[in-house]
Order: sequence, then structure tokens, then C-alpha cells
Amino acid sequence: MKDVIFKLIGIYYSYADSVPALVDINLEVERGEKLVIVGANGSGKSTLLKIMDALIFPQRGEFTAFGKVVDEREMRSNPYEFRKRVGLVFQDSDVQLFSPSVFDEVAFGPLQLSEEPEKVRDLVESILDDFGIGDLRDRPPHRLSGGEKKKVALASVMALNPEVLLLDEPTNGLDPRSRKWLVRKLLELNRKGTTVVTATHDLEIAKQLADRMVVMGEGHRIERTGASEEVFADEKLLLEANLI
Ligand SMILES: Nc1ncnc2c1ncn2[C@@H]1O[C@H](COP(=O)(O)OP(=O)(O)OP(=O)(O)O)[C@@H](O)[C@H]1O
Ligand SMILES: [Mg+2]
Repeated sequence: MKDVIFKLIGIYYSYADSVPALVDINLEVERGEKLVIVGANGSGKSTLLKIMDALIFPQRGEFTAFGKVVDEREMRSNPYEFRKRVGLVFQDSDVQLFSPSVFDEVAFGPLQLSEEPEKVRDLVESILDDFGIGDLRDRPPHRLSGGEKKKVALASVMALNPEVLLLDEPTNGLDPRSRKWLVRKLLELNRKGTTVVTATHDLEIAKQLADRMVVMGEGHRIERTGASEEVFADEKLLLEANLI
């Protein structure tokens, strides 16, 4: 049976004094699926992920997650329930990283969610090891390279083991080996039940990480939602969406 965890109905969003970023977005996300959002620069991919992470709220329409309407009031009164279940890795790692060291960065989330410090230490060690960034543990995140920052940002979100992982251009800045490793890691998490929603320009990555795809058009609307094979077979659609 279909288990819809996110439901977006008629969503419109515009940044202050700006043109619309999202227009009439209707979308369902099912538990355990791999959904990839593609579209040209400025089409609204990042904005859509921010809506799904409840960082911003639609000016029109409604976002429902796990059967509850997610609005400002709900997030103010009950922030941890949602934050425990959904994690976003930002397109720009500099927005995400704020701790004095890589270790503290990865430990921050689990400590916030009141895990015991002993357990957190072991968890962080194993994640740093898994990501191959153990030797960066004492470095300030803001002085790392772009790819290193991306790995720390990914590690800090994955440390919370959320039910839904929202990833905004997760392979940006990663070298080929790290890219391959990340894709394998995400597929493994997905096999264990994590819902993975990825926004990317990279059609190679999209191919590997999508059961289903959402194509954003230049009018900030969804042009198509469909099985990834169907979308990839539609050259006209990919051309119009400025993807090839
Ligand atoms: N902070 C902001 N203030 C004003 N307008 C913004 C802001 N962020 C994005 N926009 C605008 O909203 C629209 C959607 O932007 P968004 O970042 O969601 O696109 P995107 O598909 O993620 O693009 P990219 O492929 O470049 O990452 C664009 O027109 C953009 O200029
Ligand atoms: Mg973006």
C-alpha cells in the first residue's frame, strides 16, 4: 500500500520582493522512495527542498508531513519531532557549518536530541571513519576545501539518521571516488528504508538515485513527475527544461 509521508498541495512561494520561486506545486513523496528533482538554474529546486524541510512556509497551499500540516505555528510549538525525522544537506555548505571543529559539527545534532555524550562520541567516531574524514576532526569546518565541507555537512546530517534525507546538489565539489562512495552510501541507506530526495543538475547522479523524477520548468512549476526511465526517454522535455 502507498504510504505517503509528504504531501504538497497547490504550493506557491515567493521570496520577499522577488519573482515567484515556486508556482502551484503538487507533489507526493512516498516512504522509502528515491525521488530526484531536476531543473535549470533558478527553477526552484532548492526552494522546494526548503519547503520540505520546513525552513520556509508556503504563502499559498499546504505542506503535510507524516499526516500533519507543517506550518510556522506547528514548527514553533513542536520543532524536534520534525527535525528528528527529516534532514537537509544544503547546496551551500557554508550555510550549514558553524561549529569550531569538524568533530563538534557532527556531534551537534545528536547532542541536541539529548543522546548521551558517551554514545555520541562513539557515533561521531564511526561516522568520521565511514566518511574518511577522521583526520579532519579538529579542523574548523569553515577552513576546509569545498568537497571536504560537503562531506562534513553530509556527515552531520546523516549522524541523525533521519527517516527522510533531503539532499541539495550533494555531489557538488566531490571528486569521482567520493561521488561513487556517496551514491553507494545513499543507496544502502535507502535499502534500509530511508527516503531519499535529491535535487541535482547532474543527470548521471539522477540516473543512479531516482526511482521517480520531478522536472522543474523555467516557470517555477513542475513540468513532469514520472518514473525515471520515462523522463530520461523524453528528450524534448529534457531540452525544454534546459537539462541537455
Ligand atoms: N534568498 C533569496 N532571495 C530572493 N530570491 C531568491 C532567493 N533564493 C532564491 N531566489 C530566487 O528563487 C528562484 C528559485 O531559486 P532556487 O534557488 O530554488 O533555484 P534552484 O533550482 O535551486 O537553482 P540552482 O540550480 O541554481 O541551484 C530563483 O528565481 C531565485 O533567483
Ligand atoms: Mg539550488
